[in-house]
Amino acid sequence: MSFQLKGKVIFFATNNINKFNEARRVLSRYGIAVGMLKVKTLEIQSESLEEIARTSAIHAFQQCRLPVIVEDAGVFIEALNGFPGPYASFVYKTIGNEGLLKLMKKVANRKARFQSVVAYLSEELDMPICFKGEVLGEITEEVRKGRSGFGFDPIFKPYGSEKTFAEMNLDEKNKYSHRAKALRKFAKWYKGLKV
Ligand code: IMP
Repeated sequence: MSFQLKGKVIFFATNNINKFNEARRVLSRYGIAVGMLKVKTLEIQSESLEEIARTSAIHAFQQCRLPVIVEDAGVFIEALNGFPGPYASFVYKTIGNEGLLKLMKKVANRKARFQSVVAYLSEELDMPICFKGEVLGEITEEVRKGRSGFGFDPIFKPYGSEKTFAEMNLDEKNKYSHRAKALRKFAKWYKGLKV
């Protein structure tokens, strides 16, 4: 490829400072500088996180014309047949963690997974490129808030840890999280581009 990517800053289009801080920490390990871009991204309703992320990336890029990543996440609870999945944001805003725990009352199967799709688009590409990450774990019996985290962090405990995401610091969460996994895949791809 004939374009030069090295040394460029990329931008993360998000209004979520927690997501941005997680991403900045992961990408810094690969020497990738990332800025937070507060553009209004279009979030379509779809059952596919990839489709949502891809559409948001195109929309964000059209506004800024800068190398941009967007990320979309969902939580899938096995006993609820994958609910809320890609509708996690709406469910969080409406019933929240307490409401989700009520739905899970007396449910023995607590298995759940978080999925993340990171979509990257820049002027050198025709279409966004997507990277997926997933973490398996369980929904706790009660809300376990720590000092950090957002969203469903206080009720999700990844396998291999006794702590919920909310009880972890940034580096601990990044060891397990769906988002960090997707971002590491992106970072490897980005660094591997031949100039
Ligand atoms: P979004 O559409 O990607 O922003 O996320 C969908 C919903 O899942 C939102 O309510 C977020 O708060 C929640 N969510 C996304 N990622 C995480 C996470 O890493 N931990 C906890 N909740 C999350």
